[in-house]
Amino acid sequence: MRAAWYERNGPAREVLVVGDMPTPAPGAGEVLVRLATSGVNPSDWKTRSGTRPMAAPRVIPHSDGAGVIEAVGEGVDRARIGERVWIWNGQWKRAFGTAAEHIALPAAQAVRLPDGISFEAGACLGIPALTAWRAVQTDGGVAGQTVLVAGGAGAVGHYAIQMAKLLGAARVIATVSSPAKAAHARAAGADEVIDYRMENVAAVVKDLTAGRGVDRVVEVDLAANGALLPQIVARDGFCACYGSGRAEMSLPFGPLILSGVAIRFFIVYELSPEARAQGVAQITAWLEAGKVQHAIGRVLPLAQVVEAHEAVERGEVMGNVVLAC
Ligand SMILES: NC(=O)c1ccc[n+]([C@@H]2O[C@H](COP(=O)([O-])OP(=O)(O)OC[C@H]3O[C@@H](n4cnc5c(N)ncnc54)[C@H](OP(=O)(O)O)[C@@H]3O)[C@@H](O)[C@H]2O)c1
Repeated sequence: MRAAWYERNGPAREVLVVGDMPTPAPGAGEVLVRLATSGVNPSDWKTRSGTRPMAAPRVIPHSDGAGVIEAVGEGVDRARIGERVWIWNGQWKRAFGTAAEHIALPAAQAVRLPDGISFEAGACLGIPALTAWRAVQTDGGVAGQTVLVAGGAGAVGHYAIQMAKLLGAARVIATVSSPAKAAHARAAGADEVIDYRMENVAAVVKDLTAGRGVDRVVEVDLAANGALLPQIVARDGFCACYGSGRAEMSLPFGPLILSGVAIRFFIVYELSPEARAQGVAQITAWLEAGKVQHAIGRVLPLAQVVEAHEAVERGEVMGNVVLAC
């Protein structure tokens, strides 16, 4: 099969290669998927660059992807052959991810992709959509709440706006950094947008909420925005933190403790089986009902994996970057 891989950490251009490898065979309990697409997420370039140790001497990157089950291993229902699926945790604690023509992995990690949902969209579900779902669903959900989605035009943020609305948020405010991103966030359902580079976010949130603050912040970069929390969160409010622009951060203890805010950190790779099952079921129901918009920002061939990594690393694409395998 054609695949992209690296055998040491480093810059995309120096370590990523595309070539031929043996097609894997599905082991017991596994399915073999002929991949149509592979989703590129920020954690893929971070892992490649060395924030996590190499999972194996050779790593095929990317956890997200979509395709068709071509074969099944012992113990897996043969009726699944031919099923369209999307993948989660393809390269989490595993050597071979989705940047290839095939992947063999545990059957539960290949989820039925409803008819009418494209393989490009399927490559955005494992990380961006499930992360967004978790951020708005955890700790009691958002029904009736005012929610601020930081980075509302991001891959996760764009889904988070939609899912907050779907789960009954009363009002969604998104922060963005350009008119195009503002339009993107509004099209996803944001009621208000704030340009965080041009405007005083705390002052605008105060205005929009009559001084009360928001019930929940969905935070893309706690290192950059943590100091804002006491100014924008309502008393005893909540922050679901899924990202940070820096590995270490400092937070203003005094204002935070006075605000009573609770900060929930989570990583989508480590969702409990129960939470993942709940998220997968909810996302499947939304997909079947046609309730979720996907933002495919750029599609590149597998051979251009280096360009894809560099584009995600630079943050230059609004929406998801997807490889066609
Ligand atoms: N915990 C998890 O399981 C999990 C899952 C997925 C992603 N992540 C992490 O979450 C982050 C975002 O991932 P993504 O795939 O959504 O990336 P993305 O598509 O690049 O989106 C990030 C968005 O955040 C905006 N942004 C950047 N800095 C910001 C700031 N200080 N305040 C407000 N907005 C800001 C960016 O736009 P501008 O730069 O124009 O503002 C962009 O729209 C990455 O660090 C990623 O590693 C974590």
